[in-house]
Amino acid sequence: MAYQVTLIPGDGIGPEVTDAAVRILEATGVKFEWERCNAGQEAYERYGEYLPKELLNSIERTRVGLKGPVTTPIGGGFASINVALRKHFELYANFRPIRNLPHIPTRYPDVDLIIVRENTEGLYSGIEHEVVPGVVESLKIITEKACMRIARFAFEYARKNKRKKIHSIHKANIMKLSDGLFLRCSRAISKDYPEITYGEHIVDNTCMQLVMNPYQYDMLLLENLYGDIISDLCAAFVGGLGLVPGANLGDTTAIFEAVHGSAPDIAGKNIANPTAMLRSALLMLRHLGEHDAAWRIRTALEKVYRQREKLTRDVGGKASTSQFADSVIEAMQSEQVPEPARA
Ligand code: NAI
Repeated sequence: MAYQVTLIPGDGIGPEVTDAAVRILEATGVKFEWERCNAGQEAYERYGEYLPKELLNSIERTRVGLKGPVTTPIGGGFASINVALRKHFELYANFRPIRNLPHIPTRYPDVDLIIVRENTEGLYSGIEHEVVPGVVESLKIITEKACMRIARFAFEYARKNKRKKIHSIHKANIMKLSDGLFLRCSRAISKDYPEITYGEHIVDNTCMQLVMNPYQYDMLLLENLYGDIISDLCAAFVGGLGLVPGANLGDTTAIFEAVHGSAPDIAGKNIANPTAMLRSALLMLRHLGEHDAAWRIRTALEKVYRQREKLTRDVGGKASTSQFADSVIEAMQSEQVPEPARA
């Protein structure tokens, strides 16, 4: 049986890193039927739509997407495709594990932090209008339904995966109603999970606390915009944006994508690090129940990182994107696969 997956290459470094991830996935022997559809500027030039119906129909069918980053124009232009996709398919949980890979020198070794970000509402929705010239309004809409379900998601994940602590991150000292609601819902849900320690930190303090001592946190539960910002901060703990994966999860659909964006500064040069995309693909494999294949890729990836010669330049190497992918495939093919110790 082949898995039908919607493949969205994206733009900028998107096609380079998705191509590398797809080659490595296919080298596991797991069969995929990729439905390739794009979004953003390239889709507009081809179909006259930034978010083409072909893409929505494909995800409707496959229920699983592997997505490269899509550029969102700054201060004008079309609205974010990423936000639109998350809303359209109610992908309410943005799940981002922050873990070190071997032999990448970082300020903090052995970071193991889970970020759970509400993915459908809040200021990040970009609901804005110009009231009169020189005055704009940006709406932060927070609902009890969305706050409850993201808190439930985080605590359920913690219980299933034996995580010990969740901190709800907020600015309820200033946004007393909106972030206040987020906090009230987090507190209410936390009562059902007495084995998990529940804490609350104000978001600005959290930035300082993270940089001082990231080990004090286990899981962070955040409203949309705070999750967006803190994810990039946490990426720096493990070597940068080229390494951190993500998953957008709903009740029926899941789209897997790296935390990073389209990186226009390095696009088209075959130098981007595909690790974040590959680790997102690993989350997809586990979602599909392909734990052995996920484990084989992970073992190969760690071997390449241990050897160091074939790393991309963002993590101190000289290899190109495609050379790095070749090395992971080679390592996978030469590796005796140990029993999975941790999925
Ligand atoms: P970015 O994440 O694209 O780049 C930030 C920095 O990290 C750059 O210096 C870049 O070279 C580096 N970087 C990112 N990914 C890398 C990789 N795989 N390997 C090596 N270096 C990497 O963030 P930026 O510049 O703020 O955003 C660029 C565009 O991407 C914007 O249009 C933004 O809206 C979009 N974006 C899209 C996302 C998505 O589709 N999910 C997520 C974040 C941003």
